[in-house]
Amino acid sequence: MEAAAHRPGFAGRQGELAHLTQLWEASRAGRGTAVLLVGDAGMGKSALTETFAATRTDARVVWGRAWEAGGAPPFWPWLQALRALARQRGEQVHGLAPERRGSLPPDEARFAMLDATVHALLDAAAERPTLLVLEDLHAADEASVALLELVVDAARQVPLMVVATTRQRELAEAHGRAAERLQRSATRLDLGPLDADAVAELAAARGLDGAELHRFSEGHPLYLQELVRLRAHEPTSTEIPPTVEAILTARLAALTAPARETLGALAVFGREAVDAELAAVMERDVRADLAEAVAAGVLASVRCERGPGHRFAHILLRQAALPAAPARWHARIGRWLRGLAPVPWSEVVHHLREADDPGRLSAVRAAAAVAMEQLAFEETLRLRHEALALAEVDPPPVAARPADESAPPQTGPSEAPSGGAAERRAVHLELAETQLVTGDLQAGRAGCVAVAAEARAAGDALALGRAALTYGSVIVAAAVDDRLEELLEHTLELLDAPAPPDTPAPPDAPA
Ligand SMILES: Nc1ncnc2c1ncn2[C@@H]1O[C@H](COP(=O)(O)OP(=O)(O)OP(=O)(O)O)[C@@H](O)[C@H]1O
Ligand SMILES: [Mg+2]
Repeated sequence: MEAAAHRPGFAGRQGELAHLTQLWEASRAGRGTAVLLVGDAGMGKSALTETFAATRTDARVVWGRAWEAGGAPPFWPWLQALRALARQRGEQVHGLAPERRGSLPPDEARFAMLDATVHALLDAAAERPTLLVLEDLHAADEASVALLELVVDAARQVPLMVVATTRQRELAEAHGRAAERLQRSATRLDLGPLDADAVAELAAARGLDGAELHRFSEGHPLYLQELVRLRAHEPTSTEIPPTVEAILTARLAALTAPARETLGALAVFGREAVDAELAAVMERDVRADLAEAVAAGVLASVRCERGPGHRFAHILLRQAALPAAPARWHARIGRWLRGLAPVPWSEVVHHLREADDPGRLSAVRAAAAVAMEQLAFEETLRLRHEALALAEVDPPPVAARPADESAPPQTGPSEAPSGGAAERRAVHLELAETQLVTGDLQAGRAGCVAVAAEARAAGDALALGRAALTYGSVIVAAAVDDRLEELLEHTLELLDAPAPPDTPAPPDAPA
């Protein structure tokens, strides 16, 4: 098969390659298609997609990969793909079509941004047939999946082919309804094990017994590859590890202790890490360890967003390398990343969450503010709910907070007082505000009213005023809102009253 020549060691999959090629021909002729390539971990989705993409010399090919280990910012796979597309066209892109946002209200800005992104993609495809690969869709954020749905619907009349790889169970778990819709609008291609002929081909190339390999691996490509590797390194061994995980664990166990420790820390970072960041967190030189792991085929060097790095050859290797007690590493990594400028808040939150670190609440609030800037409403809401749950369970005492803990980005009500009940009210109000701007008026207003009642009882005029203003920030009809009037009156009353001794006067309140 023509395609196999482009990826050494690739075998079989003629039927799938022919099917993809047929869909590509239709796309290239202006009838855009979308393919959902579904298969279990290690079944060969990436290998097939790479082989197929390598033969598309008549296309512009761009990739976006979701982070399976968590912590990626909203829209991450799209940002990667759009940046790659921009680079190929000699343009600069930082976000998703930011030029269209202007001063629109958030919901309109979001619509305009997604619409502009879809059209930028369609324009690029009209200029040159484009193959867009989105890897590991199950690990993508909700907003990314929503954008994919828009692209799939819009692509039908342009030379654009979208191939999204995914694992079925994880996709259904993470994106239930959207996944169902996607499966209806895209062509679903299910990837099963390799057939006996493909296994025989792989075995013959290495002088191995094809029938035996097929019997043990049942055609599962990752297991097969690992068995082949085992045979190459230990030709006399007769013991066959029962699972792919067992082989991978054995492979890691053969490395030196420092290399294993480095791989453990890298695995806590995720599927990949920047070399300099890994070394900083480990507080030692890790170059020899990384080289050892590359030589053993455990890692590959890659270019990460923030610099040169290393990536596990497979996510299951990352799983096998995870240390027994990763929380300590998560805390160190989260705190270290917090010192970067700009702070990668999504990653910080992910690590502090895994570590159950006390700095988590302020990081979650900051990440929510950033997600809102990116108009990733789903992620913002999720983070706002998380912040409220944290503030309710464990209100951090004001005095115990280190200086850097008080610095979520200065957007909206995040500048509100920090610590204890006052912080909980601020966090609650942030949730209410997000609900209001994302269209859930009922929940948003109920949140404002609840915060206002609490603030009034506590004599917190600042929070009461903010609750009233947030409540009134979305005008539904040109009618007088009694509730709003009442909240504003309560605020004025409280401002007139002397402050109770245990609440500091709000900094900007009139004397
Ligand atoms: N057709 C094939 N011929 C030879 N080797 C293959 C083939 N398909 C997959 N492999 C090998 O099997 C291993 C797993 O494949 P791959 O990474 O493509 O799986 P995947 O389905 O993308 O897994 P995941 O869901 O974890 O991303 C890789 O080492 C790959 O090179
Ligand atoms: Mg893959």
